[in-house]
Amino acid sequence: MRRVAPLLLVGLLAAGCSDSKPGGSVVSPVPGNRLVHVTAPKGDPAKGKAVFTANGCAACHTFAPAGATGKVGPDLDKLADYAAKAGIPLDQFASTAVTSPPPPYVPPGYPKNVMPSTFSSLPAQQLADLVAFLTQGK
Ligand code: HEC
Repeated sequence: MRRVAPLLLVGLLAAGCSDSKPGGSVVSPVPGNRLVHVTAPKGDPAKGKAVFTANGCAACHTFAPAGATGKVGPDLDKLADYAAKAGIPLDQFASTAVTSPPPPYVPPGYPKNVMPSTFSSLPAQQLADLVAFLTQGK
């Protein structure tokens, strides 16, 4: 029984979250809230590349893995540096930046109110794929 109880709990939590609306954030920006991690779909970087392209991210961002050279927004090849400056884990930083801009750290020289907020409606799986692509190899 002692080994079963925690598993049961996780199962119940997962069930409780499974009917959340698509587009709900995958990773909570609330520090220490681990519950959302438990139920987040696993991201596929290859699919995330397609999400990046389909949503026009390349028009504004430079990001080498996508062959993107946009200059309106920050260089996403340096995303790990930005997350470090903000002092939060990279995957959380990427997810928050996409779903509720502006992120806690924006490098000097870039606007803080230009990134569209419409990506908060991306389906959870697409967001997870996108975050996996943005954070791949970092
Ligand atoms: C219209 C231009 C534009 C588009 C389209 C755009 N962004 Fe942005 N993005 C920005 C700007 C400008 C910022 C700086 C913060 C802000 O404006 O809120 C930013 C910030 C970011 C950041 C955080 C970097 C930082 O530290 O400031 C990430 C990650 C990001 N964008 C990813 C994406 C992804 C992924 C997409 C496509 C789903 C996308 N952006 C589409 C302009 C854009």
